[in-house]
Amino acid sequence: MPTIAKGLEGIIANSSRLSMVDGANGQLIYLGYHIDDLVENCTFEEVTHLLHRGKLPNQSELDAFTRELRSHRSLPEGVVEFLKHAPKDAGPMDVLRTGVSMLGLYDTDGKYQDRALNESRALAICAKVPLIVAAYHRFRQGLEIVEPRMDLSEAAHFLYMINGEEPGAESAKTLDVAYILHADHGMNASTFSSRVTIATLSDIYSAITSAIGTLKGPLHGGANEGVIQMLEEIGSPDKVDEYVAGKLERKEKIMGIGHRVYKVLDPRAPHLQSMAKKLTEELGETKWIEMSERIATIMREQKGLNANVDFYSATVYYSLGVPTDLFTPIFAISRAAGWTAQVLEQLEDNRLYRPLTEYTGPEEPQKIIPIAERA
Ligand SMILES: CC(C)(COP(=O)(O)OP(=O)(O)OC[C@H]1O[C@@H](n2cnc3c(N)ncnc32)[C@H](O)[C@@H]1OP(=O)(O)O)[C@@H](O)C(=O)NCCC(=O)NCCS
Repeated sequence: MPTIAKGLEGIIANSSRLSMVDGANGQLIYLGYHIDDLVENCTFEEVTHLLHRGKLPNQSELDAFTRELRSHRSLPEGVVEFLKHAPKDAGPMDVLRTGVSMLGLYDTDGKYQDRALNESRALAICAKVPLIVAAYHRFRQGLEIVEPRMDLSEAAHFLYMINGEEPGAESAKTLDVAYILHADHGMNASTFSSRVTIATLSDIYSAITSAIGTLKGPLHGGANEGVIQMLEEIGSPDKVDEYVAGKLERKEKIMGIGHRVYKVLDPRAPHLQSMAKKLTEELGETKWIEMSERIATIMREQKGLNANVDFYSATVYYSLGVPTDLFTPIFAISRAAGWTAQVLEQLEDNRLYRPLTEYTGPEEPQKIIPIAERA
């Protein structure tokens, strides 16, 4: 009997030049560049260019790329109407999933395998995902949407669009770094979803819609929301030990801890940890980082598990004043760069994903009993 790789653990399903997740050594590389160097030296726009176009841009390439990206800062009227009328208590990830799906309705160009059209669609999706999140957030508060601006970076523009005022340089830089750290990550669940969808030769909107639905779950991108809920539930640093002990005793998971691939520290976590520390100190609200660090220590010592990307990003977004239910959408905004690049790459050398399943139903042939006689 062949062995089953439950959750496809350890299976190499394809090759990709885009990112390397080195689980044994705790390294994350985008097209040969270490994320430590990228956050130190580049902006999210440069990293998006790297993923989409295969190289870090020179200044004139970056200018042209940024102009093109920003030219997509608008939403079809029908999508705006949907966002206006979506239930005020809907989950922003659900709204985003539907909004991206709707974008496909307004693209009448067809030719879903055309490389040039798909490159342009990929950039348009990256530009429109934050607009959908921000517009819904404004509408649900009874506010009007903010007119997009063409002079702000992706990170600064998102904060501007949700708050209606331009963020400080430091907030924008913090979010920019978080965007870079989340931009791509090998064959994670949502990327896999997007590749499975595009591999049927569907279309890029369907692929990104699949990815958003997959990211939403608490075992994937949804974990960052779960971290803040947990910190709020714990309340203060002196309650951490008792809380974690209770969770472990009940065999419940601690959100933001553990990883399928990283067996050592997730290389994204220390960047987010130091940003979370700095921000909470500036706000004079150090209990969040104190609680987080204590949880991470207990989990490392008792279970040999480390903090992942979601663990400290939660405190970073919280400290930036972002509402909790926009944390996972922020993950989606940054990962849209990777998803779209992965979709383009999948189409370069496509093969349908079609794994097998081990049948565990009845072995003997079943005789059909007429419906009126069935028990
Ligand atoms: C990310 C995750 C899904 C990876 O899971 P996986 O590779 O399928 O590993 P498993 O869930 O099978 O966990 C293996 C063991 O570690 C334990 N474990 C893993 N993550 C844990 C966590 N966050 N809290 C407590 N225990 C955890 C499991 O209970 C299991 O223990 P056991 O062998 O005694 O039963 C898992 O670590 C998790 O659920 N983490 C919390 C959610 C999260 O932060 N997700 C974001 C990932 S970036």
